[in-house]
Amino acid sequence: MKIEYNKSLKKYNTFGIDAVASEFLTITSERELIDVLSIRPKKNIFVISGGSNMLLTRNVDALVLHIAIKGISIKKLSEDFVLVSACAGENWHDFVQFCIKNNHGGLENLSLIPGYVGSAPIQNIGAYGAELKDNFVSCEAIHIQTGEKHTFLNDDCNFEYRNSVFKSKLKGEYIITKVAFRLTTKTHTLNTSYGAIENALMQNNITHPTIKDVSEAVIKIRKSKLPDPLEIGNSGSFFKNPVISTTDFSKLQETYPNAPFYQIDRDNTKVPAGWLIEQCGFKGKRWGDAGVHVKQALVLVNYGEATGQELLKLSKKIQNSVFQKFNINLETEVNII
Ligand code: EPU
Repeated sequence: MKIEYNKSLKKYNTFGIDAVASEFLTITSERELIDVLSIRPKKNIFVISGGSNMLLTRNVDALVLHIAIKGISIKKLSEDFVLVSACAGENWHDFVQFCIKNNHGGLENLSLIPGYVGSAPIQNIGAYGAELKDNFVSCEAIHIQTGEKHTFLNDDCNFEYRNSVFKSKLKGEYIITKVAFRLTTKTHTLNTSYGAIENALMQNNITHPTIKDVSEAVIKIRKSKLPDPLEIGNSGSFFKNPVISTTDFSKLQETYPNAPFYQIDRDNTKVPAGWLIEQCGFKGKRWGDAGVHVKQALVLVNYGEATGQELLKLSKKIQNSVFQKFNINLETEVNII
């Protein structure tokens, strides 16, 4: 067990914030995790996996556990399905590509999402008409207080739009170590309904897409809109898309007839936060090294040396502005630490 002291977390969060951990330990096996939890005062533990959905606004005075447990296994369930399990420290996109290479379908729409497998269930990652919960079977997790292992089935996780039991009722109580998915091997159910995917496939004259084609289309769309965290620090969408009453949305449409929306049900309408933020004039703006992405206003960016506090200040300015103009509250999607 090699604990490092006063370690910079810059490399461990995709925003590239230079916060310092008082103690830092990389965990490479479930056994090691259970051992650490048995000897450490349990309250002062902070878990970091891919660091792709957090904004660090302060130094972390705790033992930071970086969960880097690796390994993938495949079990045949039937002629048509396999159960693919991946350990928490696998890179999410590499895992998706591994599945595609092996002709295991179901995760292709979630290509190129930054982060690790272990944190994917926490916010039920989603993109282009698909969500993790669609193929998720179960995950194993270690209870921080007792060190006991628990298996959560899909129904136990209370998955919702960018939310789960791990982000709500059980927040901070478990460390996910392994996630299992049921994937197709023969007849893949492709989800190309998201307009941009269809366009990308059409542009390449693909009429009978494979899971690889869908993955490539998603990669192309993401690359065209979203900044690569290796080049510009960011955490993907900073806010959730707000849901408002359909009556309020109709009023909004009187002033903005072209406002984009997703109809949730008769009474509720989801409005893209990126559009609201753009209407408030923030798109592409920059204050020092903290800014709003040029191509997608929902993504806040760190051009280099921005602090977590500066980005937090910018996010509050955006929330205030959207509230003033539209009377809509934007909720953050990333975890503010
Ligand atoms: N829009 C604007 N201006 C902008 C950004 C968007 O007008 O600056 C408009 C677009 O023109 C479009 C609509 O808003 O009409 C929706 O935009 P987009 O398709 O880019 O998707 P989004 O709703 O902004 C969500 C997810 C993304 C996910 C995409 C695709 C949330 C909070 N975000 O974004 O997820 O990749 O859909 O499925 O639900 C993430 O969670 O980190 C993330 C990137």
